[in-house]
Amino acid sequence: MIADQAEALRALAGMAKARQEPINREPGAEAARLLAFASGKGGVGKTTMVANLALALAESGHRVMVLDADLGLANIDLLFGISPTYTLGNVVRGEQSLADIITTGPKGVMIVPGGSGLKELADLPRLRRQELIHSIQRLRERADIILMDTAAGVSQDVLGFVTFADRVVVVTTPEPTAVTDAYALMKLGLQEGQSNFALVVNMAKSAAEATATAKTLISVTKRFLGLPLDYLGSVPVDAHVSSSIRQQTPLALAFPDCPAAVSLSAIAGTMFPGDGLAPETGVLAGVLCRLAGIGNRQGKRAREQ
Ligand SMILES: Nc1ncnc2c1ncn2[C@@H]1O[C@H](COP(=O)(O)OP(=O)(O)O)[C@@H](O)[C@H]1O
Ligand SMILES: [Mg+2]
Repeated sequence: MIADQAEALRALAGMAKARQEPINREPGAEAARLLAFASGKGGVGKTTMVANLALALAESGHRVMVLDADLGLANIDLLFGISPTYTLGNVVRGEQSLADIITTGPKGVMIVPGGSGLKELADLPRLRRQELIHSIQRLRERADIILMDTAAGVSQDVLGFVTFADRVVVVTTPEPTAVTDAYALMKLGLQEGQSNFALVVNMAKSAAEATATAKTLISVTKRFLGLPLDYLGSVPVDAHVSSSIRQQTPLALAFPDCPAAVSLSAIAGTMFPGDGLAPETGVLAGVLCRLAGIGNRQGKRAREQ
């Protein structure tokens, strides 16, 4: 193992000692439109996050598309409670075009369903991956924001999506294994040319634990990779998440006021600071619109006038 990597891992292992102070966002962090959610480790909450952030962003008036780029274990359709006729599997086999398989989910979120359990999707030949990436580029004009849910691990497929996204939202939990995998993912992403990373800490047992986790990862990333890491916020561990998955109704719809849903909606409010939806106003607008019983698209239009 290279010396700096060993040192980075030791620094991550000492994460519990991180100072528990609030973290300022990186100055000048850019809003980006094609976001890949990645983590290295599986089961940290990427899919849950993508589905619920998509709904929150759609609520605030954005045209949002979700692309299930988990080419082995696709399940975003389950979270949205939809049963698509065609999936990315049909696209990869040349039977459908990407634009033809877009399904509309709750709040008008456009969904490109992934192809679960399809062997040929789990590790695409290089040419096919490039073709897929080009077709995704062409979807940009249909949406303001595209959120791509990627698979666990750091396969060439995942790195392909990580590299071509405008920004990578790295999801981790406070677990040391998740944190080291998140670091490894950023290191590999950087080697492939990606340097725009943001961080969300999921399943935190307390605000202090989330802050300590973020601080450690931010400082190690800065020190060993020379990269800024924009901290978007954290989501607490919340039993409503698994209840919503069992109900196949996204959290934001089944339990909009539970702690995890409230945090996710706050994160959605911080993601695109240039859109007039500053963190506070984004959340506040959502709450006010809900109270007033009007859609947030109307709310956004009203603010634009
Ligand atoms: N904030 C949370 N609190 C409690 N459970 C969560 C939370 N986020 C995700 N989970 C649970 O963790 C599991 C993995 O989530 P998922 O979104 O599928 O992760 P990934 O896509 O990273 O593999 C699911 O069973 C989900 O219910
Ligand atoms: Mg997933």
